[in-house]
Amino acid sequence: MKKKCLFSEKTVKIGPDSGYDNYIMAIESSCDETACAIVKNGREVIANIVASQIKTHEKYGGVIPEIAAREHMDAINIVVEEAFSKSGLKPEDITAFAGTVGPGLVGCLLVGLNAAKTLALVHDKPFIGVNHLNAHLCANYIDTDLKPPFMALLISGGHTQIIDVESYSKQTILGETIDDAVGEAYDKVARLIGLPYPGGPKLDKLAQEGNPMAYELPISRVEDYNFSFSGLKTAVLRLVKKLKEENNGELSEKQVKDVCASFQECVSKTLAKKLKKALNERGYEQVVIAGGVAANSEIRRKIFEFEKYGYRVNAPIMKYCTDNASMVASCAYFNTNTYDDIDVEVFSRA
Ligand code: KG4
Ligand code: ZN
Repeated sequence: MKKKCLFSEKTVKIGPDSGYDNYIMAIESSCDETACAIVKNGREVIANIVASQIKTHEKYGGVIPEIAAREHMDAINIVVEEAFSKSGLKPEDITAFAGTVGPGLVGCLLVGLNAAKTLALVHDKPFIGVNHLNAHLCANYIDTDLKPPFMALLISGGHTQIIDVESYSKQTILGETIDDAVGEAYDKVARLIGLPYPGGPKLDKLAQEGNPMAYELPISRVEDYNFSFSGLKTAVLRLVKKLKEENNGELSEKQVKDVCASFQECVSKTLAKKLKKALNERGYEQVVIAGGVAANSEIRRKIFEFEKYGYRVNAPIMKYCTDNASMVASCAYFNTNTYDDIDVEVFSRA
């Protein structure tokens, strides 16, 4: 595809058909990570810099948008400089500059998106705006030869979707959560049992030492490819309350691990079941998972079991599951529903 340089308006070919090596610099700042990356031809990471704000938000038990935006301001120039110095590339070597447009926290998105637009303007290169959810899916192209069509399960802090990816740019959402996202459910349940933010990875770790059959929790019966996790969350709340009452107001270490394992079993079973159904119905041979929760050990294990039935399964390595800018660069290269207009504005919801 052809994209316009912002200042001179000369056109540049970008993407798999461009006929030369593309180096895309991308910026991601939709939530609590300030990230900058340079990716060659959509698949080879040359630099991947992530400044995490977890330490800041930990004490509040969640992300405070205004504080996050200010921290992005402090970190943005540093991550861009680090990406250049790590790669040994100069701005003139960059084919295009990309940035996340949304969904995300508006104040946070503004910082990264304006940085990407400014870099493109100053260095007279094309600007490519990227959708954060599409970028998560594109993390699967990094270090692989994966090409659509495939079925995708996108599970993050804000979204839970089954997506039919017919081509790089044609995607159809088959179903999504009608209430909490999987990551949100993980973080809420983690908080309930006293784990610090973000609770998902910590809950996952404890679950691996617990008995997944210890407590029976309800599997939601939502139609088609949609999900619901709020009932499960309430069931865990009741269970924890009951166990505490029986145990002088405290959960034993074993009980904590068993609650985590039982919750994780219920979530992973539900996700795997619906994904398998979608795969069978569309007749695809490939399936991918993406988003922060795709880093979860049990969800990965259950989805990789599909390989036994002859499916090709792909999941990004851990650091490309959670928010990063390499996935944004890959999304820009493959032109996955991108925004070319320099005037594109950030948006908070999908
Ligand atoms: O994709 P992401 O980095 O940010 C969003 O776009 O939302 O996802 C963050 C979410 C958080 O809810 C976090 O608790 C969850 O991913 N997460 C996990 C694991 N690692 C990250 N949840 C369960 N198990 C994990 N190992
Ligand atoms: Zn994300």
